[in-house]
Amino acid sequence: MLYKINKILKNAKELKILAKSIAKIIRKNCLIYLKGQLGSGKTTFAKYFISALGYKGLVKSPSYNIVEYYELEEKNVYHFDFYRIRNSKDLYFIGWKDFLCNKSIIIVEWPEKGGNLMPNPNLEIIFNILYSKNTIKRSIEIIQLKKLKKNKNILSIV
Ligand SMILES: Nc1ncnc2c1ncn2[C@@H]1O[C@H](COP(=O)(O)OP(=O)(O)O)[C@@H](O)[C@H]1O
Ligand SMILES: [Mg+2]
Repeated sequence: MLYKINKILKNAKELKILAKSIAKIIRKNCLIYLKGQLGSGKTTFAKYFISALGYKGLVKSPSYNIVEYYELEEKNVYHFDFYRIRNSKDLYFIGWKDFLCNKSIIIVEWPEKGGNLMPNPNLEIIFNILYSKNTIKRSIEIIQLKKLKKNKNILSIV
């Protein structure tokens, strides 16, 4: 691990701002894991993030197709959701290893499902959600494990 930050999210707008800041500091060749329980904000983050990278259309949830692809100026983005992946055979079937060689921005929800076929990512983002009587509290933890854009790191976004 290189760096780690923690942030409380008051609303979805704060998540959008954060996604925008992260989009500015990542490389064109980058692996990002999104962890956290159902409803914690992984897909919402991915939508804000892909829009911030320059995609003008509607960002769809990949929960049905497992992967959605976005071709942007000078970069490609793959957004995976492994929620329905059962084992590593499923990952071979979708050609996961080939995607990894693609020099793209790869975002994965539920990377835990991929077991030992999952290399260390550049960023791991953990979404926490705490339900109490009348309130919902959300926080986010961002761990940088590998290099981002030259001279950039996640400490610069807080
Ligand atoms: N930071 C946030 N503040 C308020 N609402 C949020 C936030 N993040 C996500 N949500 C809302 O929570 C719901 C579920 O989020 P989603 O991104 O689909 O979760 P996941 O992909 O982790 O299952 C959505 O309706 C979304 O608008
Ligand atoms: Mg999701």
